[in-house]
Amino acid sequence: MSLVNHQILLASRPAAEPTAENFKLVEKPVPTRDELGEGQVLVRHHYLSLDPYMRGRMSDSKSYAEPQPLDAVMIGGTVGEVVASKHPRFDEGDPVVCMGGWQEYSVIDASQRGALSKVDTRQIPLSAYLGAVGMPGVTAWYGLVKIIAPKAGDTVLVSAASGAVGGVVGQLAKARGCRVVGIAGGPDKCRYVVDELGFDACIDHKAHTDLRSLSGALRDAAPKGIDGCFENVGGLCLDAAMLRMNAFGRIALCGMIAGYSGQPIPMANPSLILVSRLKLEGFIVSEHPEVWPEATLELGGMVASGRLKFRESVAQGLASAPEAFLGLLKGKNFGKQLVKLI
Ligand SMILES: NC(=O)c1ccc[n+]([C@@H]2O[C@H](COP(=O)([O-])OP(=O)(O)OC[C@H]3O[C@@H](n4cnc5c(N)ncnc54)[C@H](OP(=O)(O)O)[C@@H]3O)[C@@H](O)[C@H]2O)c1
Repeated sequence: MSLVNHQILLASRPAAEPTAENFKLVEKPVPTRDELGEGQVLVRHHYLSLDPYMRGRMSDSKSYAEPQPLDAVMIGGTVGEVVASKHPRFDEGDPVVCMGGWQEYSVIDASQRGALSKVDTRQIPLSAYLGAVGMPGVTAWYGLVKIIAPKAGDTVLVSAASGAVGGVVGQLAKARGCRVVGIAGGPDKCRYVVDELGFDACIDHKAHTDLRSLSGALRDAAPKGIDGCFENVGGLCLDAAMLRMNAFGRIALCGMIAGYSGQPIPMANPSLILVSRLKLEGFIVSEHPEVWPEATLELGGMVASGRLKFRESVAQGLASAPEAFLGLLKGKNFGKQLVKLI
């Protein structure tokens, strides 16, 4: 009897906030080794990564990437092990990372450059290749190092500070001698950001729900102003940060999750970009493959030595992926959101 591969497809596009009904769980047989073509590798996924960018792919509005096709397996990063290989560089049992999608197994054409990579799990846990040593970690590294380019003594602000990207940004900035202030949702997340991740301060955005209150809290936490802002959220967080930016400050615009359901989030004071001579630069990490070796060397070294800490929210089983993803868009995750598949 053949093995079953559970898959989650995009069944429909959300009009506003996505719901579980936008997804469909189906079963397909797992291909046998004989059914693999030359150069193909069958991977059994151990973890699926859930990421905010998936919300954008569910819609067909203008974006930097093509929309996710309907009735196709949802796009997603995965880590797992090779279970059958017809490629000379991959053997059964190899730990690997690939874009396997929301399913338990995938067939990867390993002859395609970058489609399948072996990873070293001797000092770094497999799941970290979807987080601190994977795409979110490199995102943090790129925005901080290449756009904010902090000097020791600078103050760096990070929103969604307890998350997969934000947590890494703050620790990389601390390692560069900066004062680091986070913004996160709720007292537990804020406590974790300061006590575990080593930020100097963290502001609870749920306790500061208007511009006056949030910018006041920022003034107290960053008395010398903000030199670098790593923006993950947009809206109120960005508006408050802009009011506190020092002259010639740098804003790395990484994400605007506050607006991912499609509603416009206008900027309150764009004239501050001119008045404070700010640099505001958006970026997409996948457009900068050249930084991966340098970034992952630093991130991997820090994780292996325990200097870079991270936390994971792990949902169990593929069927839990839609609810876990919807939770991520509402801040229910605490750290990198994963789905464990074995
Ligand atoms: N540019 C790129 O190439 C790139 C690559 C990866 C990620 N990103 C972006 O980086 C950001 C962080 O991604 P991540 O993977 O690290 O996710 P994450 O921070 O682990 O999870 C998302 C967090 O965003 C916050 N959030 C969610 N909805 C919000 C809302 N409506 N208003 C305010 N905060 C909200 C929540 O944190 P709180 O509970 O603390 O509010 C939630 O936990 C996202 O905007 C993502 O799109 C960009």
